[in-house]
Amino acid sequence: MKKLRIGIFGLRRGLDYLDAVQMNGFEVTSVCDADETRLAEAKKRLPDAAVYTDPEAFLNHPTDAVFLANFFHEHAPWAVRFLEKGVHVLSECASNATMAQGVRLVRAAEKSGAVYMLAENYPFMLFNREMKRVYEGGTLGKALYAEGEYNHPFDIYNEDNVRVLRTYTSHWRNWLPRTYYITHSLAPLMYATGAFPVRVSALPVFAPDPADAPVSNRCGDKAAVITTLNSDGSVFKVTGCAAFGAHGNSYRLCCEKGQIENLRGMGDKVMLRYNGWQVPAGLEETNFYLPSPDDMDPAVLEKFGHGGGDYFVMKYFYEAVANGAPVPFNVYFATAMASVAILAHRSILAGGQPFPVPDLRLEADRARYENDELTPFPAGPHDIPAVPCCSDPSYAPSAQQLEKYRGIVGEEMFNK
Ligand SMILES: NC(=O)c1ccc[n+]([C@@H]2O[C@H](COP(=O)([O-])OP(=O)(O)OC[C@H]3O[C@@H](n4cnc5c(N)ncnc54)[C@H](O)[C@@H]3O)[C@@H](O)[C@H]2O)c1
Repeated sequence: MKKLRIGIFGLRRGLDYLDAVQMNGFEVTSVCDADETRLAEAKKRLPDAAVYTDPEAFLNHPTDAVFLANFFHEHAPWAVRFLEKGVHVLSECASNATMAQGVRLVRAAEKSGAVYMLAENYPFMLFNREMKRVYEGGTLGKALYAEGEYNHPFDIYNEDNVRVLRTYTSHWRNWLPRTYYITHSLAPLMYATGAFPVRVSALPVFAPDPADAPVSNRCGDKAAVITTLNSDGSVFKVTGCAAFGAHGNSYRLCCEKGQIENLRGMGDKVMLRYNGWQVPAGLEETNFYLPSPDDMDPAVLEKFGHGGGDYFVMKYFYEAVANGAPVPFNVYFATAMASVAILAHRSILAGGQPFPVPDLRLEADRARYENDELTPFPAGPHDIPAVPCCSDPSYAPSAQQLEKYRGIVGEEMFNK
C-alpha cells in the first residue's frame, strides 16, 4: 500500500481518527489547532508531524490530502482552498453551513483534479450496512418510506461536558439549529436507497433547558422533525440531531414487500420482515439477527465499534485518492444533505412551509443560491446573526443560566 501524506485540521475529532488514518495507508505529516492542550496531545501521539496553530501556514505545508475536523460551520471555505491547491479533501460534517458555500464547494470540486469526500461514518454502522445490503438484494422491492433518528442527549449539568463541548459563548454548539447536524440521520437512508431529497419541510420540538442549567444555549429546541420527498418518490422522516431522553440511533426502511430496521436498545441487531405472501426462499416472515459482516476483520470491527464507521470512511477515502475509486459521499451527496439541513430550518421558521431542495449539479439551481450567505452562526463574540437558531426567535438563555455558564467556562471564554 503506497503511503500518502495527510494533514489534520482540528484536533478534537481529528485525533479520534488516528487509528483509522494509520491503518489505511496515510501518514499524518502535519496538524493544525489553536488549542494548546489539543496540540500537546497531538505532539505526543505524532512526534514527527509538523505542528501549526495558524491554518494559513498549515495550508501551505506540502501534503497529498487533508482531513477537515475544524469547526462544524467552517469546513467549506477551507475545503475550497485545499481543492484549489489540488489537495484531496476529507471533510467532517457539515460540508457547508450556508447555501452559497455549498455552491462554491461544488464548483471548486468540479474544477479541481483532487477528490472531495464527506467523512460521514453512520452509514457504515453494522445495521446500516445490512440495511443497504438487503435493499440492494432486491427482496424488499422499492423504498416507499424511511426513518432516521440520531438522538444524542447529553447531561447539561456535567461541567466537563459543558467545558469541552460548549467551550465558549460563540462556539458553534451553542448556536446549532436542530436541523443542521443532519448527516447522521439522513445519510444512511440516502446511501442505502440512492434517493436524493427534492423537497423538505420541518417542525420543531421546543423544550428549553431548565432555568438552573449551566448553559449558554441559544437554541431552545430539543429536536426537529424533518420530512423529505425524494427523487424516487419515497418520503423520509429524520430528526437532525435530537436530544430526547435515552441516547441511540435508529433507522427503518419500509418498502413494497417488507421492511428492515435496527432494534432500539438491542445493539446492532436488526429486524427484517416481509409480507406473508412475499417471503423470499430461505427466510422467515419475521427475522431477528445480528448481521455478520463479511467485509471486515473482526478485530478491526471490535476496535472501531459501530461496525467500523471511521475505519470505512478512511478506507474509501484512501481508495479514491490512491486508486481513483468512486467515493461514497461525493460533493453532490454532501451538499444535498447540507441544503436539507439549512432549508429545513427555514421551514421551521416559516411554520413548516415546504422548500424545494436545489440540485446543485444544475447551473440554474446554483445561480439561485450563489449569493445566499444567511447563517445562524455568529461571526464573533458579540454578533447576533440575522437568522435565529431557535424555532422561537425571541428565545435566549436566562441570566441565571448565563451566570452558571460563566462560572464553569471562566471570564475569558464567557466573553469569547
Ligand atoms: N462523525 C462523527 O461521529 C463526529 C463526531 C464528533 C465531531 N464530528 C464533527 O467534527 C467536527 C469537529 O468537531 P469537534 O467536536 O472536534 O469540534 P470542536 O469545536 O470541539 O473542535 C474543533 C477544533 O478545531 C480547532 N480550530 C477550528 N478553527 C480553527 C482555526 N481557524 N485555527 C486553529 N484551530 C482551529 C479548534 O481549536 C478546536 O480544537 C465538527 O464538524 C463535528 O460535527 C463528527
